[in-house]
Amino acid sequence: MVVPEAAGTLLDALRDHLGVRSPKDGCSPQGQCGCCTVLVDGAPRVACVTPVRRVAGRSVTTLDGLPADQRAAWADAFCATGASQCGFCTPGIIVRLAGLRAKDPQADDAAVGRSLAAHLCRCTGWRTIHEAWAAVRDGRPKGSRDLEAASRRATIEGRTPQQVGHEVALGEGGFADDGAPADALVAVPDGQGGWAVGETLAAARATAGKVQGRRTTVPVEPPLALPDGDWAVTLRTSWVEPAYLETDASWCAPGRVPASPLGNGGAFGGKVHSPVADAARLLADAHGRAVRVLLSREDTVRLGPKRPPIAVGMRSDGTGVLRAVRTPGLADVVRAIAPTITLEEVDVPGPPTSMDARAAGWAELALLRAGLAGVAGAVRSPDGAVAEASVADGRIEVRVACGDPLDEVVLRSYCIGAAHMAFGWVTSEGLAVDGDGAVHDLTIRSFGVVLALDTPEIDVEIVHDDGPPVNGSDAVFVAVATALWVERGCPPDLPDTVRARRGGSR
Ligand code: FES
Repeated sequence: MVVPEAAGTLLDALRDHLGVRSPKDGCSPQGQCGCCTVLVDGAPRVACVTPVRRVAGRSVTTLDGLPADQRAAWADAFCATGASQCGFCTPGIIVRLAGLRAKDPQADDAAVGRSLAAHLCRCTGWRTIHEAWAAVRDGRPKGSRDLEAASRRATIEGRTPQQVGHEVALGEGGFADDGAPADALVAVPDGQGGWAVGETLAAARATAGKVQGRRTTVPVEPPLALPDGDWAVTLRTSWVEPAYLETDASWCAPGRVPASPLGNGGAFGGKVHSPVADAARLLADAHGRAVRVLLSREDTVRLGPKRPPIAVGMRSDGTGVLRAVRTPGLADVVRAIAPTITLEEVDVPGPPTSMDARAAGWAELALLRAGLAGVAGAVRSPDGAVAEASVADGRIEVRVACGDPLDEVVLRSYCIGAAHMAFGWVTSEGLAVDGDGAVHDLTIRSFGVVLALDTPEIDVEIVHDDGPPVNGSDAVFVAVATALWVERGCPPDLPDTVRARRGGSR
């Protein structure tokens, strides 16, 4: 098939003109997440910022185009090590590693980390991706697995239906936008609360007058002041982006059921109430044609729910005041786990907040309690999982008991991912939101998700237990955040370092 020059970017040409759906769109046209990485004449390129005219006459290789034995080896390795959870980032990462392997088949961990600097993965915490590389490099045979049990554990950890298998690593995990028919209309938010519709993504974005978001110099600031009081320990948190890699997407044919944006989640509480499926159904009926509804990275940041920012002071007897951005469900959590804390909910201009965010409310209160005690002990989650973490010499060590593991590879992967997320929440993640509530950090790199090279070693010990399986990774998230916060001297504001990184002032 000949692709017209007007096809726009290489990613548009691959996904929309040629129907090649393994390169994913996590941030186009920002070129920052690496999900659309392909090889151009053997060299990795980010397809969403590569004009298609620039590759005329050159060889373009996607994950689908790798030799079958290589594809199988990478899929085996990613599945065997738990290096792919939602799988949205994985095709781009495999293509990157295949390019590295062609140049340097014995590349060490540091070289792999440098090559992963062009990518973001929100789910795995990177360690298992390094292990997948080593498994391919060393030609390690794969062990046998009960993938049904593995999928059950992934579903418990992801809190949405999750699959485990080679198809996930190959980018075939069932993402909503991948199944859309080629001739579907495309709808994007028009900035006025409605939808701009076009024949292509580029046309819809042009109709919406979309301008690419930028990283801002506005500093990340906790939006709430501390309540007045004589506090033994205090904490303020900032706006934080869930930063799931697959932005919200759906499609629907007239009179049919829309594809769910949660097909293979990894959303950490995001996308649970996404507007895209309802919009796809309404637009398909209105236009009498299939319609794809897509949120760009900027749309997802502006419209998607955030963890509620808080400012809390606690006295040495455990009483205190928790001031928080008003969020449905927060009062129930505080009443259940900290009845001695008075909750003050306030209305603050900004993006929507949700208690669906991972461990929202109880993570923050666990930090305060550990701060009072001066030591991070074991945490018990509302699900009944128990986790404990320690931080020393740049390593994070985690122990978790959450019932029958079902599949240790998957459970370990989710626990490492949760530890990585906790590390980011404490040290680097934050979203700049001004006093009028406008979000200024609109690029995926500006959220502060920790890259492979900057992630500490994370060891996970899984306690053997025949009890009913419950979610363990949320407990790990809280245990690691608590251990890090205490180890850093209980800094009063989270994230602890982002302002220094951006040149802001305390
Ligand atoms: Fe990497 Fe989900 S597996 S973003």
